[in-house]
Amino acid sequence: MEVVIAPAEELAVLAADAIEAVLRSRDEPVLGLATGSSPLAVYDELARRHAEQGLSFERARGFMLDEYVGLAEDHPQRYRNVIATEIAERVGWPAERVTGPDGAATDLPAACAAYEESIAAAGGVDLQILGIGTDGHIAFNEPGSSLASRTRIKTLTRQTREDNARFFDDDVDQVPTHCLTQGLGTIMEARHLVLLATGRHKAEAIHQLVEGPVSAMWPATVMQWHQHATVLVDEAAASRL
Ligand code: GLP
Repeated sequence: MEVVIAPAEELAVLAADAIEAVLRSRDEPVLGLATGSSPLAVYDELARRHAEQGLSFERARGFMLDEYVGLAEDHPQRYRNVIATEIAERVGWPAERVTGPDGAATDLPAACAAYEESIAAAGGVDLQILGIGTDGHIAFNEPGSSLASRTRIKTLTRQTREDNARFFDDDVDQVPTHCLTQGLGTIMEARHLVLLATGRHKAEAIHQLVEGPVSAMWPATVMQWHQHATVLVDEAAASRL
C-alpha cells in the first residue's frame, strides 16, 4: 500500500492524474465512483480537465459503490443523482454508462446480484475511488462486514447516519436506515484502489487502515491485502501515523 501525505489540492490532482491515465490507456475504461465529500475536489479537477483539455469520458463505464434504500427517484441525496450532478453531467458522461445498485428495486437481493453481474460483464473496475467513514467503513461496509462480502443490503450504523445527516438538513431521522453496497470482496477486485481522506476526524480511521491489524471491525484495513492500493491523505488525516 502506498501512502501519500500532501495538501488536499495536490491529492485531488494526483487522483485525477491516475483517472486520466486509465481513461487514456484503455479502450473501454471502467471507473468506480464514490460519493461523500472526499472525492469532490477530484471531480472538480476532472471537470476542469474536461472543459479545458477535452478529457473525454464517452467510452468509459462508471460503477457506483453504494446507494441508499428507499429514497424517491428525484431525491437530491439519492446517490445516482449526486453522481450525476457532481461528476457525470459536468464531464459529458452519457447517463446510461454510469450506474449504481438499484436502491428502489422491489427485489433488493436480485438487484444486488444483477449489479455484481453488470460489473463483471464490463470486465471489472480499473480504478476505484474511495472515501472512508470515521468508523473505518468503505462504501457502506460498516464495522463487522465480512472481508469477503459481495453487494448486499446493509443497515447503517447510528454513527454513519449522524455523519451523513449534514446532507439531510442536519436531521438524522431523514437519513435512510438501509443501503445497498458493494461488498469488501467486490471492491477488492478493482485493479487499483485510490482512497482519499482529509481532516483530523479521519485520523483514527487512517491510523487503523495503515497501521492496524486487518480486521472486520475496521473494514478499510482489508486494503492492506490489495496489490495496488493508494492512500491519499492530508497532514490532519495523517496525524496519527
Ligand atoms: C458515506 C459513503 C462512503 C464515504 C463516506 C465518507 O458513508 N457511503 O462511500 O466514503 O461516507 O464520506 P465523506 O467523504 O463525506 O467523509
